[in-house]
Amino acid sequence: MFLEDCKILENYQVSENYYLMKIESNKASQHSKAGQFFMLKVKNEIRILRRPISLHFVDKDKNILEFYYEVKGGGTKEFTDLEAGEIMNIQGPLGKGFKTDVLDKKCVVIGGGMGIAPTKLLINDLKKNNEVIFIAGGRDKNAIEILKNLDLEGVKTYITTDDGSAGEKGNVISALCKVLEENKIDMIQTCGPHKMMEAVAKKAQEAEVFCEISLEEKMACGVKACVGCSIKTLDGMKKVCHDGPVFDSKIIVDVNPKENLGCNCN
Ligand SMILES: Cc1cc2nc3c(=O)[nH]c(=O)nc-3n(C[C@H](O)[C@H](O)[C@H](O)COP(=O)(O)OP(=O)(O)OC[C@H]3O[C@@H](n4cnc5c(N)ncnc54)[C@H](O)[C@@H]3O)c2cc1C
Ligand code: FES
Repeated sequence: MFLEDCKILENYQVSENYYLMKIESNKASQHSKAGQFFMLKVKNEIRILRRPISLHFVDKDKNILEFYYEVKGGGTKEFTDLEAGEIMNIQGPLGKGFKTDVLDKKCVVIGGGMGIAPTKLLINDLKKNNEVIFIAGGRDKNAIEILKNLDLEGVKTYITTDDGSAGEKGNVISALCKVLEENKIDMIQTCGPHKMMEAVAKKAQEAEVFCEISLEEKMACGVKACVGCSIKTLDGMKKVCHDGPVFDSKIIVDVNPKENLGCNCN
């Protein structure tokens, strides 16, 4: 884990409330993997707590880290004011990322909404030695505009939006059902809204497929020094910032979806 002052190379609006920031990092970039996150320092000292943001992509040859973020409150709003040439202090990489040391597997990667953030690097790493199927979903076309920034060559991709403004009208679960029906899948990895991941985990368990989910909890320290991100699992209490954010879905207690997510493949 590094504390590093990094030069901002680019910071631009992708669509609506969604932004992409590229920064130069000589140290952290060399040790980062898909699914890990960084605590980004907000300039205004009134906001003492850093903001946890997933690693979107890393270019290890050029020492560039990418972060894809959505404006939620004051901290992320401040990020949008940062300009190329300014300095951002980062802490990371933090947490446990996705499993990528697999060979000749058929992998499904599912990103929902902001959960698309870690999928760029994940897909990039998996597709070197495996077949990857990608399912991406969002509220509307603005929420999936970021897909233009992903290298999806050779990746069979399904896109869904709630309002049908891009891809198929519907949600990622319907697409997952179709993929599970038509393929023998070895591994599913997902990041997105909690309800969506519960439904994915349930489908994976039914199909007896190994599944990893990336959880999001409010974080104060990001380095297991407080109890802000503690969760109950079937394997005892875990800290999302240290033991996760990526977990084997089997140890997460609440994998029973309480809402019907529109999947009719049961
Ligand atoms: C492991 C992890 C990875 C994340 N990756 C991304 C990402 O790639 N892109 C992205 O846009 N967002 C991501 N988030 C969510 C992001 O951290 C919050 O949206 C952001 O902290 C909100 O800060 P704010 O000041 O804009 O909002 P405010 O609501 O003003 O935040 C107030 C406080 O709550 C904390 N907080 C608020 N919402 C969250 C949340 N959902 N998760 C954790 N802390 C929160 C903030 O750190 C801050 O301390 C991630 C969260 C986690 C835990
Ligand atoms: S955020 Fe402090 S222990 Fe995880």
